[in-house]
Amino acid sequence: MKIGLLGLGTIGSGIYEHLLKREDIEVKRILELLRHPGLEHLETSDYSEILNDPEIDTVIELIGGMEPAHTFTVQALKAGKNVVSANKLMLSHHMEEILTLAREMGVHYRYDASVGGSIPFLYNLMRYRGADRLTGISGIVNGTTNLILDVMQTQGRGFDEVLKEAQAQGYAEANPAADIDGIDAQCKICIASAVAYQQYVRPEDVDTEGIRNIDSEDIIQFKRMNRVCRLIAASTWNDDGSVSAYVEPTLVASDSTEAAVHLNNNTISVVGEYFGVHTFQGQGAGKHPTAFAVELGLRDILDGVSPRLNPIPEGYARIDNGAARHAYYVRTTAQLPISAEALGNCGKGTAYVTEPISVREMHDLAKQLKQTDAGMFFAGIIE
Ligand code: HSE
Repeated sequence: MKIGLLGLGTIGSGIYEHLLKREDIEVKRILELLRHPGLEHLETSDYSEILNDPEIDTVIELIGGMEPAHTFTVQALKAGKNVVSANKLMLSHHMEEILTLAREMGVHYRYDASVGGSIPFLYNLMRYRGADRLTGISGIVNGTTNLILDVMQTQGRGFDEVLKEAQAQGYAEANPAADIDGIDAQCKICIASAVAYQQYVRPEDVDTEGIRNIDSEDIIQFKRMNRVCRLIAASTWNDDGSVSAYVEPTLVASDSTEAAVHLNNNTISVVGEYFGVHTFQGQGAGKHPTAFAVELGLRDILDGVSPRLNPIPEGYARIDNGAARHAYYVRTTAQLPISAEALGNCGKGTAYVTEPISVREMHDLAKQLKQTDAGMFFAGIIE
């Protein structure tokens, strides 16, 4: 197998190091704007040198972001090359086009590394499909925000300081707003839901709230409630054929599975009618864990795993976030227009616990409250 590697950043340098140890996979060319000592003979800034090289059968796309990743991927697939990628942003917005094109061209598009980093989650979802009816996915799918929430809770350290640590360790996105505002988790729940329910989910249909506004006073309040905050991405297949899909800070019980997920780790559970609940855990971000997942994709191609493992969803899901309901913690200086129990003053406002309301209603309410209190914070409360 001869590789054109796009990008030599955190994950790209990781997979390059891993592949040096293999005799059956050779990195023939690296697309990079920068030059790295000792690798100049492989590096090019001209993608056509990869695209037009008939010896290169597989492209590893690790430049991330929307463009030029999207254009380069389409060009590689049209040129009959396999593509292995960790790019959740691009895939979640172009999933139908990319999967359909790969199928038409009879090549692989492997995106195992795009959700859950090293965890073999998507691969198993693909295998479950058809053998059971999958009805729910939920979990912690962003390592950066989990590190921030965990360290704020357990060590009492500040948000910005821990974010810098996540950046230094290579967990955070190039623009960490994607992590903090829940966009990265939004992309991941779209991809996982499409595999599980065989219906594409558009990122803009996923009600999404991140952790930007969390305050150390909120964390003190959560401890009093015997709860821990985690950024949870969830989707469910509803009985009427609609899908609920959302990302939001969530207060879980302090003895729950999610509360025991520390640092940059992820956990994802999937519910099937026959098998019940399967929970996957492991490192969801970082150089070597993610490079490991990329390498698994390459190995599967070499081992002859069929491209048909990769499901092609049928159409787009009808999203209904009115169907998912729970109570919420809300901290705001604004007047709450719904029934809620006041917990008292909490730093930047009053803390409340609402009656159960739908995800749709809460995300709409938050938009309304932010017009007078841009720093308001809310979190779902689940049993
Ligand atoms: N920024 C992502 C995270 C990287 O922190 O989980 C892995 O997808």
